Amino acid sequence: MSKVTVVGAGNVGATCANVLAVNEVANEVVLIDIKEGLAEGKAMDIMQTAQLMGFDTVVKGVTNDYSQTADSDVVVITSGLPRKPGMTREELIGVNAGIVKSVAQNILKYSPNTILVIVSNPMDPMAYLSLKTLGLPRNRVIGMGGALDSSRFKYFLSQALGCNANEVEGLVIGGHGDTTMIPLASLATYKGVPVTKLLSAEKLDEVVKNTMVGGATLTGLLGTSAWMAPGAAASFLVESIIKDQKKMIVCATYLDGEYGMKDITIGVPVIIGKDGIERIVELDLNDDEKAKLAASEDAVRKTNNILYETGIL
Ligand code: LAC
Repeated sequence: MSKVTVVGAGNVGATCANVLAVNEVANEVVLIDIKEGLAEGKAMDIMQTAQLMGFDTVVKGVTNDYSQTADSDVVVITSGLPRKPGMTREELIGVNAGIVKSVAQNILKYSPNTILVIVSNPMDPMAYLSLKTLGLPRNRVIGMGGALDSSRFKYFLSQALGCNANEVEGLVIGGHGDTTMIPLASLATYKGVPVTKLLSAEKLDEVVKNTMVGGATLTGLLGTSAWMAPGAAASFLVESIIKDQKKMIVCATYLDGEYGMKDITIGVPVIIGKDGIERIVELDLNDDEKAKLAASEDAVRKTNNILYETGIL
C-alpha cells in the first residue's frame, strides 16, 4: 500500500492529485487544504472520473485535519499563493515562507519518515526552509522546479525542431527563477544528436529564452501561474519515488560541496528512487555554464538570506 498526501487543493495541488490518480501512482491520495470543503470537493470531482478513466486510486479530501495524512510515503507541498502577472516567484517569499514552514511541521508530526516534494514558490528557498526547519537528511527534501523547467525546455526544443517532445532530451539546472534557471543547450539532444548541430545559434537562443520565462508567459496568459505542467511534474517525481524508478530528474537539492556549493538548495540532476534523492549527478559544465550557475547561486542565496533576516530560520 502506498499513500501520498498533497497539501493545497488549488490548481497545482488538485492537478497533481488528479495525475497521481489517473496514472495510479499510489493506492491512496489525501488532498488537504485550509479552505473548508475545497479539498473534499476537488477529491470528489476527481473520484467521479475514476470509472471514466479506469483508475483504482482512492483520492480523499480533508479540511485542515493533518491526522488524515498520517504515514504518507511522500508529501507534496503546494501551499501558498501563486504569482500574478508581472510578479517574480521571489516576491512570494514574504507570504509563503510562514505557510510552508507550518505545513512542513504539521506533516512531519504525522509522517515522520516521509519524503517531501516542495512545489511552493519561491521553490528553491522553500525547499531550503523545509529542510532546515525540520532538520531532515537531504535525500528527503526535493524541490520540484527543474523537472518542470526541463519539461518546458523539451517542449520549446520540440517546437523548434518540429519533432516529438518525447524524443528530445534536455536539462535545466540552477534556480527556478526567470533569470536564474540555466537550460543546458550544449547537452540537449534529439535522438542522441546534439541540438547544437540541428538548430542555429539564434534559434537555440530563442528556445533558451522562452524556457526561462516559460512560467511568466503562462502567468501572463492565464492571469495566475500555470498548473497543468507543475502538477504533472510533481506527480512525475512522486512516481519515481513510489515505484523506485531511479529516474534522473533535475531537482532542487541541498548541496554539500557538489558543484562547488555548500549550504544551498538549487537545481541539479539527481537520481530519484525509493529513498528520495539517491545520488547527485555532477555534470561536466563548460565555462559559460559554470558562470551562469555561479550567478544563479548568488541569486538563490540572496533569497535564502531573507529567511534568516526575517527570523523565519
Ligand atoms: C511555474 C510556477 C509554478 O513555473 O513556478 O509555472
